[in-house]
Amino acid sequence: MSSPARALPFDARFAIVNAPMGGVAGGALASAVTRAGGLGMIGQGSAGSVASLTAQLALVPEGVRVGIGVVDWVVRRDPALLELALDADPVLLSVGFGDELDWIRRAQDRGILTAVQVFDGEGARAADAAGADVIVVRGREAGGHGRHLVDRDALLDETLSVTDRPVLAAGAIATAADVRAALDRGASGVWVGTAFTTAVEALSSRGSRAALLAAGPDDTVLTSVFDQAAGWGWPSDIPERVLANAFTARWASGASPVARAEFAAAGAHDDPRGMSVNAGLGVGHLTEELPAADVLGALAAGL
Ligand SMILES: Cc1cc2nc3c(=O)[nH]c(=O)nc-3n(C[C@H](O)[C@H](O)[C@H](O)COP(=O)(O)O)c2cc1C
Repeated sequence: MSSPARALPFDARFAIVNAPMGGVAGGALASAVTRAGGLGMIGQGSAGSVASLTAQLALVPEGVRVGIGVVDWVVRRDPALLELALDADPVLLSVGFGDELDWIRRAQDRGILTAVQVFDGEGARAADAAGADVIVVRGREAGGHGRHLVDRDALLDETLSVTDRPVLAAGAIATAADVRAALDRGASGVWVGTAFTTAVEALSSRGSRAALLAAGPDDTVLTSVFDQAAGWGWPSDIPERVLANAFTARWASGASPVARAEFAAAGAHDDPRGMSVNAGLGVGHLTEELPAADVLGALAAGL
């Protein structure tokens, strides 16, 4: 199926956006992606804070424009983080994983473009009605948090049929062929996470990089056990796709106080056997650590 591409509302040589990944996509990665011709986004995830966003924004050189993504329950707990994101005047703002989309109007009143990630057709209709400038269809293949209801391509088809807004495809976009196929299907661009997680400029730790490079396509699992262990405020119906490891196997039925201590120790030692390493089904394509410009160049090869 194909439909005419709808123009993206921002300027970029390639219609490739690096997803805002908490703990992974900081100012260095975002600026490298923008400079290479995509749109880079800084992510502030579960541990997002004013201090962290301030530090990452300081890494963006003068004149390099990037986007920012924050998480709904985090900014509801810490409204100053959303204020800072708005004051930074990003090219594109995403507030993810919430059902209330009142932030869209606030951003647009300041001339900031908005992107809403959706997980099903109902979410796509709600994003359309709320006036999102870009709708990101996040299929169940994707790394990180989400309601994993619909395959990416089916969600893309459904979303294109309910909105005239530009749509970005997300979930296991890992090769130039994946990018080309998404555009041919009617997407205006792609929103890519996992493929950038081992980029040289990413914030990923040594331990998580090693685990990502070693993983194959069957090595991910959907779980909420790390969120339980960390005490994050994620809704229970929003699990995350992570690399399966000793921790996800041992605590498959839920985190106990012992699990919480093990999780903290693994993080302190950068031991990926007990860490939450977010990754989508395209993780098997990661084979080496490359500059973000090379990752982007490989994805854009067919454009
Ligand atoms: C390491 C990692 C961290 C992520 N953190 C966030 C986040 O903080 N906010 C957000 O909106 N999405 C986050 N996501 C989800 C991405 O926005 C996107 O939906 C996903 O990466 C697309 O699938 P892919 O990883 O298969 O490319 C994260 C994904 C990964 C892999």
